[in-house]
Amino acid sequence: MNRFEGRVAVVTGGAGGIGEAVVRGLHREGACVVIADVQEDAGRALSAELGSRALFVHTDVAAEQEVAAAVDTAVGAFGRLDVMFNNAGVMGVLGPIDRTPMAEVDTTIAINLRGVVCGFKHAARVMKPQRSGVIISTSSPGGMLGGVGPHVYSATKAAVVGLSNSVAAELRPFGIRVNTIVPGAVVTPMTATVVADGAHDIGGAEQALGASALMDRALRPSDVAAGVLYLASDDAAYVTGVALPVDAGMTGVHGSSPYTSGRYADPVTLLEAGRIRAAD
Ligand SMILES: NC(=O)c1ccc[n+]([C@@H]2O[C@H](COP(=O)([O-])OP(=O)(O)OC[C@H]3O[C@@H](n4cnc5c(N)ncnc54)[C@H](O)[C@@H]3O)[C@@H](O)[C@H]2O)c1
Repeated sequence: MNRFEGRVAVVTGGAGGIGEAVVRGLHREGACVVIADVQEDAGRALSAELGSRALFVHTDVAAEQEVAAAVDTAVGAFGRLDVMFNNAGVMGVLGPIDRTPMAEVDTTIAINLRGVVCGFKHAARVMKPQRSGVIISTSSPGGMLGGVGPHVYSATKAAVVGLSNSVAAELRPFGIRVNTIVPGAVVTPMTATVVADGAHDIGGAEQALGASALMDRALRPSDVAAGVLYLASDDAAYVTGVALPVDAGMTGVHGSSPYTSGRYADPVTLLEAGRIRAAD
């Protein structure tokens, strides 16, 4: 498929994890891509590997002028901006709410929410006069459910959905689509720091997440990228204002149906639908 031939994208957090998979996918399907990330070495290496249709721009999404420069580089080098992927994010401040350091709260919000606002602002500045484009942002199940992520992280990820839907309403008359992707626990350096022996232990993360996965294997960046590429492409020409979960039903499916266990005639079982495991 060559769904992005002649199109131009900016991917924040594009040097690793989900962002890298999206950079590779967009590039494979013909796009010119700006990799906007704070990771100098990984970003430059990826851009060198992909060649002339990829550029790395050092971008801290918490600094507005750097987000503006990434967008301007896309327009200056490749002539337009068709896809903005607001994906950079950090786990941020951790720990119980009663011991939350407020300076770390500010930093987390500056990257995970303010950074996304900046991405919207500077993408819209180019896309509105162009009267076309797609903006996608990365949320998380933590933005929808309690107990699956750190507090402030979860709050920023809920805010990303609210922001995205609000901007979708403004930009629809300009022919710009705005959507959110909601990945479950993905095998990336971010999760490897939590479930394995550090950011580089991707094998350990694959194993740990595979063992607790809702499907037969762990969720991979390429699975998430497939959803992002769908939303970014003309396949989703009539799709705006959605939050697309790529999470094996983590957010939408409470458990296994009683029909799985064959106990479908038992009203108690039906009442308990979703709390029964297939093995019961
Ligand atoms: N991994 C998961 O399980 C998971 C699940 C749901 C949502 N997400 C979200 O997906 C996005 C990508 O996460 P990932 O798992 O690929 O993480 P990751 O840590 O593997 O990659 C994130 C990338 O963002 C970059 N980055 C960090 N801070 C930045 C900043 N201030 N400016 C620019 N770039 C910055 C990093 O250098 C890195 O390349 C994040 O928004 C994350 O919250 C991840």
